[in-house]
Amino acid sequence: MGATSGIGYEVAKLLAQKGWRVGIAGRREEKLQALEQLFPQQIAYQIIDIEKDDAPELLEQLIDKIGGMELYFHSSGVGFQNKELEERAELATCAVNVTGFTRMVLAAWHYFTKRQESTPDFCGGQIAVISSVASTRGLGPAAAYSASKAYNKAYIQALNQLSNSTRANSLQKGGSSKSKPLKICFTEIRPGFVDTPLLDTQKYRYPMLLQPQKVAEKIVRAVEKKRRVAIIDWRYKILVFFWRLIPRPLWERIKL
Ligand SMILES: NC(=O)c1ccc[n+]([C@@H]2O[C@H](COP(=O)([O-])OP(=O)(O)OC[C@H]3O[C@@H](n4cnc5c(N)ncnc54)[C@H](OP(=O)(O)O)[C@@H]3O)[C@@H](O)[C@H]2O)c1
Repeated sequence: MGATSGIGYEVAKLLAQKGWRVGIAGRREEKLQALEQLFPQQIAYQIIDIEKDDAPELLEQLIDKIGGMELYFHSSGVGFQNKELEERAELATCAVNVTGFTRMVLAAWHYFTKRQESTPDFCGGQIAVISSVASTRGLGPAAAYSASKAYNKAYIQALNQLSNSTRANSLQKGGSSKSKPLKICFTEIRPGFVDTPLLDTQKYRYPMLLQPQKVAEKIVRAVEKKRRVAIIDWRYKILVFFWRLIPRPLWERIKL
């Protein structure tokens, strides 16, 4: 989800190159078509706007096109530097990064639950989402963005806890059903600054800028290894480690 640009585009391309069958989605059809044409055997697309109520239904249609889903990968997101706290930008961020995100992650959760209940020997599903290193502290210049990413992080943690204590009636080979632990695993990816249209690099300068192709390689590795959390890259791991140590009263006085 969010394969028309930036990180999502690179991840979709890499998965297709590795032989995955990939269902791609976003709002811009011309971008989806162009990516599908690069891998016509492996990629199918569906226009989906995650702000709209019909998005879960359209996701199901996309899943049908590719013959089932083992991994739901959520990259869709928007972000703005908004020191002026312009209301439209703050609310637009919440609509995509919080409401749209919740809508789609829930659709994936319900799909995997139903699949486990109806498919004998279902191996389990994976939900992978991109949050950000911005999820780890509130950031003054991007208040709604950092808060929405903190929401992504906490939501995935909550769903993982819930899935560990939930059982599903799993269909067995003989047709009987047996209560089994829910088989969904979660991966949350926290990249640092990545050179994509989201950042508006014409207007602002960003330190330690990562390239989306390299980030996609690390993401795909983390997803395939079913890592619970992946911070990308190592420099941001160190940065996050230290900025988390800064006491709150001091953090709230830093001028970013
Ligand atoms: N770039 C960074 O520095 C950075 C750092 C950390 C985390 N991230 C996160 O990484 C993710 C991808 O960002 P990116 O940098 O690759 O940005 P990007 O190049 O701007 O891509 C954003 C993607 O989100 C999709 N999207 C936006 N609104 C949507 C909607 N209403 N419905 C469906 N899809 C929607 C866009 O597709 P359409 O416009 O076609 O709908 C596009 O494919 C985001 O969640 C972002 O917060 C980015």
